[in-house]
Amino acid sequence: MSSPVRRLVEWDATRLSGLANAHGTPLYVQDLGRVRENYDRMAAAFPDATVMYAAKANTAKTVLKTLVEAGAGIECTSAGEVERALSAGCPPERVQYTAVNPPEEDLDYAVSTARDDPGLTITAGAEDTMARLAERGYRGRLCLRVNPGVGAGHHEKVSTGANAKFGVPIDRAPGLLAEVADRFDVVGIHAHAGSGISGEDLAAHRELVSRMGELARETDLDLEFVDVGGGFGVPYRPEEKPLDLERVAQATREALGEVDATLAVEPGRYLVADAGVLLTRVNTVKPAGEELVVGVDAGMTTLARPAMYGARHGIRSLAAEERETVEATVTGPICESGDVFGTYELPAPDRGDLLAIGNAGAYGYEMASQYNSRPRPATVAVDGEESAVDRRRETVADVTRLERGVPWL
Ligand code: LLP
Repeated sequence: MSSPVRRLVEWDATRLSGLANAHGTPLYVQDLGRVRENYDRMAAAFPDATVMYAAKANTAKTVLKTLVEAGAGIECTSAGEVERALSAGCPPERVQYTAVNPPEEDLDYAVSTARDDPGLTITAGAEDTMARLAERGYRGRLCLRVNPGVGAGHHEKVSTGANAKFGVPIDRAPGLLAEVADRFDVVGIHAHAGSGISGEDLAAHRELVSRMGELARETDLDLEFVDVGGGFGVPYRPEEKPLDLERVAQATREALGEVDATLAVEPGRYLVADAGVLLTRVNTVKPAGEELVVGVDAGMTTLARPAMYGARHGIRSLAAEERETVEATVTGPICESGDVFGTYELPAPDRGDLLAIGNAGAYGYEMASQYNSRPRPATVAVDGEESAVDRRRETVADVTRLERGVPWL
C-alpha cells in the first residue's frame, strides 16, 4: 500500500524545475499516479463502500478520468461539474448531483440529463428544491440531504454539517422522506460535516454517521445508500500527521451500525491535494527593515486558500545551491495586502529562483480567478515518466474575450 502522505520534500526537484522551465510559471503540476494511489488507499480502507470523488476539489479532465478509471463515482455540485463528469466518461449511474440552492439552469440541465440517463442521482437539501424538481416532471432517483446538526472542518467557512444552508433538519427528515416517496425514486440519504476533518474531529464524524445510521433504520424506505460525505483532511504542515484512514473507516462502520444500504463517502481533497504542487518564480527580493519580502508570480488569484482561510501551504525552494536559511514573507503580485502566502524559513531567495508550493492539488486551480486581469496558469499532468500540459495557460486575450462594449461608447 502506498504511503499515506506525499510530502513536499519528496517531489523530484530536477523534474519540477524542468517542467517550470519548459512551460513557464506559475504552473500547477498534478501527479495522476499519486491520485490513483490515494484512491486505492481510500477504496481499501472502505472496501464495501462507494467512493464518490467530490469533483469541486479539482475538475481537470485528466483527474476525473483517472479516478473514474480507478472505479470512483463523481459527486458534482453544479451542472458544469455533471457535464465534466459525463464527458470524462463517468457512467451516469455513478454521478451524483448535489444541489445547493440550485439555479434554474442547473435543475433544467440535471432533469434533462436524467431523462436520457436515468441512472443519475439528484441530491436535494431543501423542500423547495424537491418542489422545483417535481414541477419539471422529475420522478427519478433522489437523495435527501440532511442537516445532521454536527459540523467539523479546518475553518468556519467550510463547516457545513450544522449550517442551516445545507440540508433539511434531521428531525424533519423521516416525515419528509415518507412524504416524497411517491413522487420520486428515493434512493439515499446524505450529510456532510465539513472539510478538512482531522483525527481530532473524529467525535463529530462519528456523531454524524451515527445519526445517519439511525435515520436509515427509522425510515421504511428501501434505501440504496447512506452517504456520509467527505472532508477527510490532509496534513498541510510538516509536523502534522496524516489521517489514520483505517481508524476513520472503523469509526464510520461502528457508528453507522447495521443498515440495509451501502455506505458512500465523498472525499475530494484527500484524493488530489498531495498529488499537486504549484510552481512559482521569485521576481523580487526586498529587505524591508526587519523583514525580507519575497515577491513571486503566483498569488491569491492562483491559490486562494491562504488569503481566504488563512491556510498554510508548505513552500520549498528548488534552487540547487546550499544557502543560509532566512525568514521570508512570500507574497504575490496582486494589489492587496491579503495577497500573502505567509512567512517561511527558506534558503536565502534570489531573483529567478523557483519555489514549489505543496498540497496545491485540491482547491488550487479550481478556485483561481482572473482578478487584476491575471490570466490563470497552465496545468501539467504527470504520470510515471509521462508529462503533458493538460490545460494551457490563459492569455490576456482570454481574460478580455467576453467584453462586448456598448453601442454608445
Ligand atoms: N461532499 C460535499 C457535499 C461537500 O460540500 C464537500 C466540500 C465535499 C464532499 C468534499 O470535501 P473534501 O473531502 O474535499 O474536504 N475550498 C475549501 C473547501 C470547501 C469544501 C466544500 N465542500 C478549501 O479549500 O479548504
